[in-house]
Amino acid sequence: MHFDIITVLPDLLASPLSHSIMQRAKDKGLLTVEVHDLREFGLGKHRNVDDYQFGGGAGMVMRCEPLADMIDKLSKERTYDEIIYLTPDGERYTQGRANQLSLGENLLLICGHYKGIDQRLRDEYVTLEISIGDYVLSGGELAAAVLVDSIGRLLPGVLNDETSALTDSFQDNLLAPPVYTRPAEWRGRAVPPILLSGHTAAIEEWREEQAEQRTRDRRPDLFGEED
Ligand code: ADE
Repeated sequence: MHFDIITVLPDLLASPLSHSIMQRAKDKGLLTVEVHDLREFGLGKHRNVDDYQFGGGAGMVMRCEPLADMIDKLSKERTYDEIIYLTPDGERYTQGRANQLSLGENLLLICGHYKGIDQRLRDEYVTLEISIGDYVLSGGELAAAVLVDSIGRLLPGVLNDETSALTDSFQDNLLAPPVYTRPAEWRGRAVPPILLSGHTAAIEEWREEQAEQRTRDRRPDLFGEED
């Protein structure tokens, strides 16, 4: 799978995507990520990418021309499954959306800054607008990193234990059950005996009960929600 990411802060994306699972996915050739500096298409000698908003008001808006030029260039090289704009007023991101996007081949991610991008760019190019939560980041870069990570780890062959993505929180609209490792007792706290029993079916049943209980306690909104 290939990601193109357009940003005015390419450095911000270098680190989160070059560790651990993401780096391994890249090393195995399962995931490629190219970060594109929007200023390459910036206007004038200052390589401007933003301007004041029509109608007045605080905050700059990212202009049409640089972003359009960059999207046009990239679109000649690849056909995108989606052109995604990361924005707090987008659709709220879920595991279901990550699963669906992981089936594609090429995704283009646009990181906004300041007050965001000119509405005409959204109308012209963007096929999906995503928010990673009800809070405002200083830019879309961290949200883009969240998408690459959450989608990248779903690609076949990326995780060592192929089943482990399936048992994550949210895969079946339930939170994950508690997990334990050695020692079996620590500071007077014992691991639930069922986990040491060797009874696979009973352990599975216990995990399901725990997942349901945890979801009921912490996220009752997840029950009955479709993705
Ligand atoms: N850009 C700024 N805030 C954001 C958010 N919550 N989700 C996605 N992109 C953003």
